[in-house]
Amino acid sequence: MSEENLYVRLGGADGIASIVDDIWLNHTSNPKIQQRYAASDGENVKRLVREFFGAGIGGPETYTGQDMLTAHTGMNISDTEFVAVCDDVLSALAKNNVGDAERNEVLCILYSMKAEIVGV
Ligand code: HEM
Repeated sequence: MSEENLYVRLGGADGIASIVDDIWLNHTSNPKIQQRYAASDGENVKRLVREFFGAGIGGPETYTGQDMLTAHTGMNISDTEFVAVCDDVLSALAKNNVGDAERNEVLCILYSMKAEIVGV
């Protein structure tokens, strides 16, 4: 029995690009976290997130950004903000008709990075 990797099951580069676009729209309209991205170059952040997820879930991308601890050190991100980011991702997955199994896998991946992002 074989199963396609998560990259393929999320729709490959095009599927992930659409999900990342929606995550960005959600973040920048979410009052709990939108201020965090007020000075960001959206296209650049979206590119880095596409690379990061693609490389991490079986895609051909090479991630060119910083590791999660370095990227978020000094931001003093709270638990509430972390949950807000996860909720935005879940909404984007639902909007893109991602199935329950894939949604749960993505959520576990996000949660596994919490210690490198919250309160650092
Ligand atoms: C598991 C959850 C998260 C992942 C996978 C993630 C991923 C990333 C990635 C890949 C970058 C780009 C790193 C670079 O510039 O080299 C980044 C930057 C950033 N993240 Fe996160 N992040 C997460 C959670 C959060 C949370 C909870 C916040 C707070 C609301 C946050 C705020 C930011 C900000 C403000 C930047 C800088 C954006 C910029 O360069 O303008 N992140 N994140």
